[in-house]
Amino acid sequence: MSLMKHHAKIETRGMLLAVLILITVSIGGLVEIVPLFKIETTIEDVEGVRPYSPLELAGRNIYIREGCYACHSQMIRPFRDEIERYGHFSLAAESKYDHPFQWGSKRTGPDLARVGGKYSDDWHVAHFVDPRSVVPESIMPGYPWMLDRDLGYQDIADHLRALRIVGVPYDDEMIENAWADLRAQADPNADHSGLLQRYPKVQIGALDGQPDRLTEMDALIAYMQILGRMVDFTDIRTEDLMQ
Ligand code: HEC
Repeated sequence: MSLMKHHAKIETRGMLLAVLILITVSIGGLVEIVPLFKIETTIEDVEGVRPYSPLELAGRNIYIREGCYACHSQMIRPFRDEIERYGHFSLAAESKYDHPFQWGSKRTGPDLARVGGKYSDDWHVAHFVDPRSVVPESIMPGYPWMLDRDLGYQDIADHLRALRIVGVPYDDEMIENAWADLRAQADPNADHSGLLQRYPKVQIGALDGQPDRLTEMDALIAYMQILGRMVDFTDIRTEDLMQ
């Protein structure tokens, strides 16, 4: 009862109430925020997440150059409709080596966070050359010239070095082999052992259907085919996520 009486005193004095609210809220804030300064990272380690292979990285650069992010997101939100359509929601760790990240904010086309492995390389070639040839109602622009443009990759090792500066764990071996790895990924006849050991799950093959040429199409398809495939979600049933 006496507590209530004191409370009435506080409630009838605006300034006092404001000061006490401020103190209470500050304590709550500190308790939540201070621990964040003490931990090194808020991103959990997730098995399978690795830096992009040199060819995937070249493809990512083309993706950014062409502004694909203006129509496509790469971020599946944890909502039922998104999970049913695209698969497991995106984890922070899945884009931790993306500088800048490609979450996007506009979906004129579908989310691409898990498009890797959804289609064959040939489908991608046909789709990029002329989207309407495989999806008649598509409004996506075609990118036919990529099949004909040689990939500029002379500076690819520098891209790896630059990313290493911002924390992507490319080691010396990866940087030394950047050229060779890039070429091997799009050459079905090359020795792929080093490439596969450095970059598990890379999509290897003619990619653009022209084994004797290294084009921008090769790089873009290598990038498309790794999206969402680094982490193994096969043991996770979608139904379990939606309870
Ligand atoms: C003007 C908007 C627009 C731009 C720019 C655009 N897209 Fe698309 N994209 C779409 C639409 C709409 C679809 C759905 C119809 C279709 O499959 O073609 C689509 C579909 C796709 C698909 C198939 C996705 C799936 O799950 O079926 C891929 C892959 C894709 N786009 C990649 C790209 C890439 C890579 C670029 C940049 C080189 C790009 N898009 C640029 C609008 C766009």
